[in-house]
Amino acid sequence: MTDADGFTPLRIKRVVRETSDAVSLVLDVPGPSENRFHYQAGQFLTVRVDVDGSSHRRCYSMSSAPIEAELRITVKRDSAGVVSNWLNDSAAAGDELLAAPPEGRFVLTPGAPTDADLVAFAGGSGITPIMSLIRTALADSERRVQLFYANRSRESVIFSEALAKLATEHPGRLLLRHHFDDDGGVVTGSAIEAFVSESRGADCYVCGPAPFMDTVESALAAAGVPKSRVHLERFTVSAVPPGVTDDEPETASTEQVLIDLDRKTTTATYRRGETLLQTARMAGLRAPASCETGSCGTCMARVVAGTARMLNNDALDDDEVEEGWVLTCQSLPTSRTVHVVYD
Ligand SMILES: Cc1cc2nc3c(=O)[nH]c(=O)nc-3n(C[C@H](O)[C@H](O)[C@H](O)COP(=O)(O)OP(=O)(O)OC[C@H]3O[C@@H](n4cnc5c(N)ncnc54)[C@H](O)[C@@H]3O)c2cc1C
Ligand code: FES
Repeated sequence: MTDADGFTPLRIKRVVRETSDAVSLVLDVPGPSENRFHYQAGQFLTVRVDVDGSSHRRCYSMSSAPIEAELRITVKRDSAGVVSNWLNDSAAAGDELLAAPPEGRFVLTPGAPTDADLVAFAGGSGITPIMSLIRTALADSERRVQLFYANRSRESVIFSEALAKLATEHPGRLLLRHHFDDDGGVVTGSAIEAFVSESRGADCYVCGPAPFMDTVESALAAAGVPKSRVHLERFTVSAVPPGVTDDEPETASTEQVLIDLDRKTTTATYRRGETLLQTARMAGLRAPASCETGSCGTCMARVVAGTARMLNNDALDDDEVEEGWVLTCQSLPTSRTVHVVYD
């Protein structure tokens, strides 16, 4: 049932058209795989689909919450995208979708004080993990929740009714603010600062298109929110990373990569131009990975000896990089020997 790469077929139980360019897929997890598909609010699945004879992997966050009976992802069209359009146009009830188990670190901080508000900023499809987070926080704690939700227009709002219903069910605990670009332009930093100033000791969660995230991140810093309380989930890679080529000069001196995984150290021979993840795979290891674009953090490991350079990093923060963490899917070794430890 589950293939060698860890993908399990999940039957599409229902397709829900949310807006003209977004669709939710309710997925049935087969009984024997139920444990592998338990998830925390804010996590995502990796799906693998074949489109026109090519296989593609993409990450989609759960828009459902763990307290709900059904597991659901929600996919918004990317105008020129392969998989998002295919799922919007072709996914049908009864079909099977191959998915790898939930991953991700965009989750509620364990033991967050109940008097710290949760303040969420969502742009467009960024509402998917945020929906899961706020539904969970409202159900499992006494925390107040604020949601700033930006969209181009009223028609493009996903979960408009579900959010209004949540606000009614939790009077005084969910403050919902919609922003429509149509009404006066894109979100400004001052609107974000004003919104966060209405909260108490907030944990902030941010997900949306890159320019929206940049505006929110800067505004939260300007408002004095400590970085440790700002949680970011990036759906898109900030820049197309340069391809890894066989003649990548920096990797010329590397001969050996030591890899600690599952309490075992493996010595891998290094092939010029390969990433640490590719090296681990070539050595026959089942190293964790998901998006393979530097966005999700699933492949993170720590370089404890030697050096490596990341081609792209949209998942680790500066402190983690300082401590030696790397995204192995994006890392080229740059010293003769490199020792990598998976947690
Ligand atoms: C952790 C995580 C969670 C996510 N959760 C969700 C979610 O809940 N809902 C959701 O809708 N999306 C989510 N995404 C985004 C999703 O994984 C896909 O990236 C998105 O659906 C676009 O995929 P696609 O195949 O349609 O587009 P792609 O075919 O990957 O194309 C994406 C864009 O890149 C451009 N592009 C492609 N190739 C090139 C190239 N060589 N040069 C220049 N431009 C290029 C395309 O024109 C297009 O605009 C998530 C992403 C991550 C990392
Ligand atoms: S697999 Fe997602 S960042 Fe490496």
